[in-house]
Parts: sequence; C-alpha cells; structure tokens
Amino acid sequence: MSSTTMTSTPHIDPKGVDIAETILLPGDPLRAKFIAETYFDDIRCFNEVRNMLGFTGTYQGRPVSVMGTGMGIPSISLYSYELIHHFGVKNLIRVGTCGAMQENMELYDVVIAQGASTDSNYLQQFDLPGQWAPLSSYRLLEKAKRVADERGQRTHVGNVLSSDVFYGADPDALGRWMKMGILAVEMESAGLFANAAAAGVDALGIFTVSDKIGSDVKTTPEERQTAFTAMIEIALDLA
Ligand code: HPA
Repeated sequence: MSSTTMTSTPHIDPKGVDIAETILLPGDPLRAKFIAETYFDDIRCFNEVRNMLGFTGTYQGRPVSVMGTGMGIPSISLYSYELIHHFGVKNLIRVGTCGAMQENMELYDVVIAQGASTDSNYLQQFDLPGQWAPLSSYRLLEKAKRVADERGQRTHVGNVLSSDVFYGADPDALGRWMKMGILAVEMESAGLFANAAAAGVDALGIFTVSDKIGSDVKTTPEERQTAFTAMIEIALDLA
C-alpha cells in the first residue's frame, strides 16, 4: 500500500483506509463501485466525499484501488493531484470511453493513449518555454499493449484529444485534429498525464470506443458492458 502523508484532503477522506499505489480511474463513480464489486477481494471504501466513490481491495492477490474522477480536465486533475501528492499513488490508469475519429476504427475497439493533445489551457500553469506534449508512461503503455495482444484484443495506440468541449461551437474543429492523426476524443487524459509527469509518477489512458465522430450508430448497454470488461481486465493486469 502507498504511504499516506495526510489523513484527508478537500476532496478525499479515506478515514484510515489505505489507497494502493496503483489506481484505476473511471469517470463515473458508480463504475468505480462496479469495478470494485466485480473484480476486487477484500473491498474497503476509501472515499464518499461528493459521492466520488473510491475503493481499495486486491486483484489476484495484489493491492489495487479504483475511484471515480468526474468528467473533464479540472475534475480529474484535482483528484489525481491529491492521490499523487497526499496519498502516494504511483500508477494512475484512466479507464473510459472515447469517440473514434479515424476511418479504420470500430465501435468497442480499445484505444491506448500514447499521448493526449488538448484544447485545454491546463498546461499553461507549468509555464514552459514552448508546447509540451503530454505523454503516457511508456512502462504502462508497453505492458498494456502486450496484455491486450495476448488477449487477442484489437487496439489502436496513439494520440488522443482531451477536449474541454463536448458541445463545440466550431463544427470543423475535430476535422482539423483528425488530419493530425488524432485517434479519438475524450476529456481528461492531458490533465492526468501532466500531473503525473510533473510529479514523476506513471499514468496511462485506456478507452473503449463508444461512438464514432460523424456517425450516429448507437450502441447497446450489453455491447458497451462487454467492451468495458475487456478494457478493465487489461487495466487490472497493470496492478
Ligand atoms: N467527446 C468527448 N468525450 C467522449 C466522446 C466524445 O464524443 N465519446 C466518449 N467520450
């Protein structure tokens, strides 16, 4: 288990329950509860503040935690900051959905983020003399790709877009990102990768394709659940 340097923060109050060095981070706190109940042994809840549920347990005997992050860079950034700086978390793995942006991508494919470009201003605070590229941890990336390949899971590895806007005013904006080879759009990874890099810890984003940008194909809850399971099992193997 990670060492705790503080008993509680403004957004996380573990009440003495440990948080593991490796944590899965879905956006939805009820997904966090589902992951813990489905995959973990010895489950303990470590956070209920704002209903942003967090749980610690073991997976195949190894300690692991899971916690919701909410949606968007501001939300994942404050939770990941507190997990890293106040609770000693070292491996942060976002698990979520994304909108596919390239022709060769199908619904339910798994996307592993090698990098996360962004339209957010979050990186500005680091005051770098140029444009910094938010990257995931190569150690986690390489392992996730290997695990996915062993499972026969179709994956796309590359650059995602962490966008601040879900309902954008500019109808051409995503097309311009597509031309730069962006695989898919989501809303959190750039903030997570920046926080992890600034603190010298490891982060990764793994997604299932829930929709294709420019297409109105609808997915069923059952299909989404199956795809979700494949992604979670890859992420849990990183613990
Ligand atoms: N935009 C942003 N985030 C998403 C999307 C999308 O289309 N699909 C799943 N997450």
